[in-house]
Amino acid sequence: MHKPLAGQIALVTGASSGIGTGVATALADAGAYVAINYHSHAEPAEQLAAAITAKGGEAFAVGADVSDEAQIDAMFDAVVKRYGTVDIVVANSGLQKDAKFTALTLADWNTVIETNLTGQFLTAQRAVREFERRGMRDVSKALGKIICMSSVHEVIPWAGHVNYAASKGGIQMMMKTIAQEVAPQRVRVNGIAPGAIRTPINKDAWDTQEKLDKLLTLIPYGRVGEVEDIGRAAVWLASDESDYVVGTTLFVDGGMTLYPGFADNG
Ligand code: BGC
Repeated sequence: MHKPLAGQIALVTGASSGIGTGVATALADAGAYVAINYHSHAEPAEQLAAAITAKGGEAFAVGADVSDEAQIDAMFDAVVKRYGTVDIVVANSGLQKDAKFTALTLADWNTVIETNLTGQFLTAQRAVREFERRGMRDVSKALGKIICMSSVHEVIPWAGHVNYAASKGGIQMMMKTIAQEVAPQRVRVNGIAPGAIRTPINKDAWDTQEKLDKLLTLIPYGRVGEVEDIGRAAVWLASDESDYVVGTTLFVDGGMTLYPGFADNG
């Protein structure tokens, strides 16, 4: 099997479920050693590490709340202690706390912004500091790679989800600004904007045929995404195959951002 990430160390935040699990698995299959971050669910993270190890890969689980700077530091220290450094960081942790605009509490606004946006800021900042500390390695053309997990909602407004959509819109501009700042050091920062991917976060949108049919009206390509779709995109963005890709958001959404409502209207 082709191992484009052989010899590289990856950290994936929020990897105990959903897209994070898919990305961690894909990076490991591509040859990377993978640190699997979780917040509150150690068991699935440890099971994932064991599954990767059983296949002949290398992984371990590391807990941290990404909105807490001290915990971010401790997580990076644990990865460096275990593997020596990190080459690929996927800032993936994210959550939804949905409510009608006038009912949304300040607490739920803050929780989503702190995890989704501040968490990615802290993760990316600590990653660049680590890349700078250890300098170039001969495993990649870049000093380091950061992938910010965004969403189609970095561009599609989403009623009832103002905290989530604001966090993802913020990720887009944060990612591009960091990319502009650190590209001269050969750090590549990019984003992935998944559409509707079959995970626990959006189960309510696909778990009956009726809901699935409704969801599919938003997806020109005619199927819901799977975490493997995002895993493959992450491997490419983390590898030298995408060495000239800097500050871009890769939409992996089956065409959700193509305004399908206009196909027979407008
Ligand atoms: C959200 C999902 C949603 C998808 C498409 C994602 O970012 O987390 O709940 O299904 O966007 O709307």
